[in-house]
Amino acid sequence: MNPSDLPEVAQLARQLGYPVDVREIENRFSLISDNSDYALFVAKTDENKAVGWIQINREPKSLLISDYADVAALVVDENYRGKGIGKLLLQEIEKWARQNKIKQIRLRSNSKRTDAHRFYLREGYQISKLANIFMKNCDCSITAGV
Ligand SMILES: CC(C)(COP(=O)(O)OP(=O)(O)OC[C@H]1O[C@@H](n2cnc3c(N)ncnc32)[C@H](O)[C@@H]1OP(=O)(O)O)[C@@H](O)C(=O)NCCC(=O)NCCS
Repeated sequence: MNPSDLPEVAQLARQLGYPVDVREIENRFSLISDNSDYALFVAKTDENKAVGWIQINREPKSLLISDYADVAALVVDENYRGKGIGKLLLQEIEKWARQNKIKQIRLRSNSKRTDAHRFYLREGYQISKLANIFMKNCDCSITAGV
C-alpha cells in the first residue's frame, strides 16, 4: 500500500462499514507504514485502481499465548467480489506471516458477516471460539478527585 492508494482505501473502508475520513486514514498510515509489526497490502487492477486491501498486525507479546498476528481489516470492492481477490490478499498476509515466523493468524468477524464466514472457512480458517467484545470509552479529561 502506498500513500497514493489512500483515497481508494478510504472508499473501501466505507464499504466495510467504517466511514473514515481520508485525512484520518493518512494520519494512521503515516504512524504504521514504516513499522515492521504492521503490513498493508492492496489489490490493484491493470488500470492501477485499488479494489481491495488488507491489514495484518503482529500482536504484542502475551504471557498466555505464543506470537500471533491479527487481521485488522479485509475488504474487496463490491463490484469485484467473487473473483478471487480476497483469496489473493489472504495469501499475501500468510506469506508475510511465514516470513516473520508468525505461526498463527487470527481474525474477528462480526456474526452478521455470514458471506465472509463462508469465505474464511473455505480458505482454511476455523472458528476457534465465540466471544463478546466489551468496550468502554475512556474520557481522559475526567480524573479521580481526592
Ligand atoms: C469477504 C471478502 C473479503 C471476500 O473477498 P472476495 O474477493 O469476494 O473473495 P474470493 O473471490 O476470493 O472468494 C469468493 C468467496 O467469498 C465469499 N463472498 C463473500 N461475500 C461475497 C460477495 N459479495 N460476492 C461474492 N462472494 C462473496 C463467498 O463465500 C465466495 O465463495 P463462493 O464463490 O464459493 O460462494 C469480500 O467479499 C468482502 O469484502 N466482503 C465485504 C466485507 C467483509 O465482510 N469483509 C470481511 C470482514 S471480517
